[in-house]
Amino acid sequence: MALHRLISVTIGVPAVARTAEYYTEFGLCPDTDGWFTTRDAGRQLRIVPAASRRLVEIRVGVDTPDDLAAASARLERLGAAGEMAGATLTAYDRPTGVRAVVEVAPRLGQDPAPPTPYNGPGRVERAGRAPGVLRTGPVRPRKLGHVVLGSPDLDVSTAFFTDGLGFKTSDIIKGAGAFLRCSTDHHNLLVLAAPVPYLHHTSWQVDDIDEVGRGAAAMLEDHPERHVWGLGRHHAGSNFFWYLKDPAGNFSEYYSDLDCIPEDSLWTPEVLEGAKGLFNWGPPPPPSFLAPEDLAALMTGAHTESR
Ligand SMILES: [Fe+2]
Repeated sequence: MALHRLISVTIGVPAVARTAEYYTEFGLCPDTDGWFTTRDAGRQLRIVPAASRRLVEIRVGVDTPDDLAAASARLERLGAAGEMAGATLTAYDRPTGVRAVVEVAPRLGQDPAPPTPYNGPGRVERAGRAPGVLRTGPVRPRKLGHVVLGSPDLDVSTAFFTDGLGFKTSDIIKGAGAFLRCSTDHHNLLVLAAPVPYLHHTSWQVDDIDEVGRGAAAMLEDHPERHVWGLGRHHAGSNFFWYLKDPAGNFSEYYSDLDCIPEDSLWTPEVLEGAKGLFNWGPPPPPSFLAPEDLAALMTGAHTESR
């Protein structure tokens, strides 16, 4: 595919320092200029000041300048023309104001993590205690997996990312959202219908379900108020999940075992309805997952971060 990876996101928040502390504790590594790195993929999160919390930029990688030119032509046909500058193409999604940057960039090669051994009926994969209970180090996400964006015009935003930039559709939540990919991951972007543009969550890959649980448990130890929803397993993408909340009100997710789509022909998008659009198993999602508590304030522009 022309698009091959989600490179990074930039988020805007009112109180940068507190939010930066949160993502450091979450397991990202602070770098210069507001950037944070993951273990496998370098600079993937940038935190910048903003009057209220929002997604500022999403950056995706393509293989060649020809891929950039093709995206530029598609955007122009869509009436959302971008600007080419060197090895990048910049365009804006009109309903959300999000800046999308397409960049000629090398593909991400992750060193495969060794499979976690799991015993099963009649199947002994390991002797002794499970690795998940022996690990003691802090959880460090391997890469940024996806970002979820609320849009007041689902159709226009979805068309911008698919018909314009070249994302592919993996699954649809009927009338409510579209799971889109710019890599072999099931989704790198979920666009959700919303009354106001906002960042719903970012999601970060960890090695396995134990790392999802260990990461969340560590974040909650002194801050139970950070808990949002988990542990569970999604239907779309199949990933294990646990959602937490940063000090600005954005959710951040640890995930593992996401579906991959290495060949488009091996995947048939589903139109999901009801609970399946949200999850396969787990505790019921809190109402604030679908309608974050600050949504009304974001709509009126009266949002101020609690301090
Ligand atoms: Fe997610």
